[in-house]
Amino acid sequence: MTDIHSHLLYGVDDGATSLEMARALLAQYAASGVDSVICTPHQNKTLRRTDVLRKRFSLFQGEAATTVRLYLGAEIYYYEDMADDLKSGELLTMNGTPYVLVEFSLHNEERIPDAVYELSIAGYRPIVAHIERYGYLTRDGLFEIRENGGLFQVNARAFEHRSCAKLLKFLLKHEMLDFVASDCHRDAERNVDFTAAKAYILKKFPGQYEKLFGNNGKIFLT
Ligand SMILES: [Fe+2]
Repeated sequence: MTDIHSHLLYGVDDGATSLEMARALLAQYAASGVDSVICTPHQNKTLRRTDVLRKRFSLFQGEAATTVRLYLGAEIYYYEDMADDLKSGELLTMNGTPYVLVEFSLHNEERIPDAVYELSIAGYRPIVAHIERYGYLTRDGLFEIRENGGLFQVNARAFEHRSCAKLLKFLLKHEMLDFVASDCHRDAERNVDFTAAKAYILKKFPGQYEKLFGNNGKIFLT
């Protein structure tokens, strides 16, 4: 399995704070059957530092000394002109592919379908990060995002929360759930734990288990 949303790369955002913590997370990955991780540090309009992230990532690959395969991407907070900055190489896509992990405001209602459309026509394939967190998103909005070329990622921990149950069921029922990811930040809380997600999908939607916990991330790995 590939974890496509992870703040494992330490010391660059609100994720892992030390090499020791990153190593603890790598141990959790190994125990969870995750063999590949795309590190997705935060990027936004004012904080891009792509060169710094590349350097830090290549240093980390040496330090980590792990059998878990590591790749670099980013979680980009959507902003106007984001497509231009992707084109000029100022933002990171998922391991250099046209796929981009993009997050939106959780509180101020944003036109996510329009943003997805804009990125799609610019030649990118947007993956909406933690789709369960946008309370303002309607069912019609979800379908619209899909029609506009968007993919959906949910955090594994969402399966532990009753408040997310309806949405998760809806996405799975319509086969619109593309990725379950850890979005891990720390080794204690917000860590790597796919237990609840795996148990639910195995029980309720076993036909989608292999897609979500087997070959899900292969499209990014070149
Ligand atoms: Fe994240």
